Amino acid sequence: MTSAAQRWNARYREVAAADIQSDGQSDGQSGDEPDEPGGDDGVGRTPGPPQALLRFEQFLPDTGLAVDLAGGPGGCALHLAARGLTAVLLDVSDVALAIAERRAAAAGRRLVTVEADLDGQTLGSTLDMVRRVEPAGEITVVSCFHYLNRSLLATVARDLPPGAVFAASIATVANLERHARPSRRFLLEPGELFRQVVGPQPPVVGVGTQPPVVGAGSDRLEVLRNEEGWHDGHHHEADLVVRKPSARS
Ligand SMILES: C[S@@+](CC[C@H](N)C(=O)[O-])C[C@H]1O[C@@H](n2cnc3c(N)ncnc32)[C@H](O)[C@@H]1O
Repeated sequence: MTSAAQRWNARYREVAAADIQSDGQSDGQSGDEPDEPGGDDGVGRTPGPPQALLRFEQFLPDTGLAVDLAGGPGGCALHLAARGLTAVLLDVSDVALAIAERRAAAAGRRLVTVEADLDGQTLGSTLDMVRRVEPAGEITVVSCFHYLNRSLLATVARDLPPGAVFAASIATVANLERHARPSRRFLLEPGELFRQVVGPQPPVVGVGTQPPVVGAGSDRLEVLRNEEGWHDGHHHEADLVVRKPSARS
């Protein structure tokens, strides 16, 4: 077992115990978990979706396969399943995945879980893992909340399937102004999320109501949301939502 798995399993065991005590109901506690951004505490003590996902709802489809990267105990994946998507949740922590499966069963939702260490993976190799366990269906959403993995981010433009949306929200170094954790190695530099995913150039302004399109050839992305700031009055996060134009456009 990797050190990431050990560390996260230890944290999620507390969540699992609280979940069993309250039979899956939220205990209403959230907030200043030392290592986590998000009023929605990032370790799933409250079972709802990340706040960032709610900010992105207008950009997300209701059909196809949604892949949630490092999704922990399934707050995002279960919300996407409730929208009608087939949700696939990847995480290094088997304890988190067990919590997510229990929550899915309690809610009567189908959830596909994959235990995977995403360190050093590309988006392409990660989606290959997903297709091995869930070969049917088109991948329409890839989400990544409160988890910084630069090798994945840097391959989104190349490996995101045509027509799919990539949605991410990750804390930035500005978060250290108010919180000691997450520590710097888990935080984005200013503007970095956009640079990692889309590239160095600012988006060309779109024509009419079309979103700006950045990049060339099969790496082109439409930028649907690109914003950094203090969210919910608590945490400084970079939001990015992009879509790869479908093969026909
Ligand atoms: C801060 S939590 C965020 C959970 C969820 N995305 C959310 O926003 O509620 C970070 C997650 O990343 C997972 N994680 C950490 N290192 C990982 C790795 N190398 N591979 C896969 N998942 C990892 C942890 O198990 C944990 O569930």
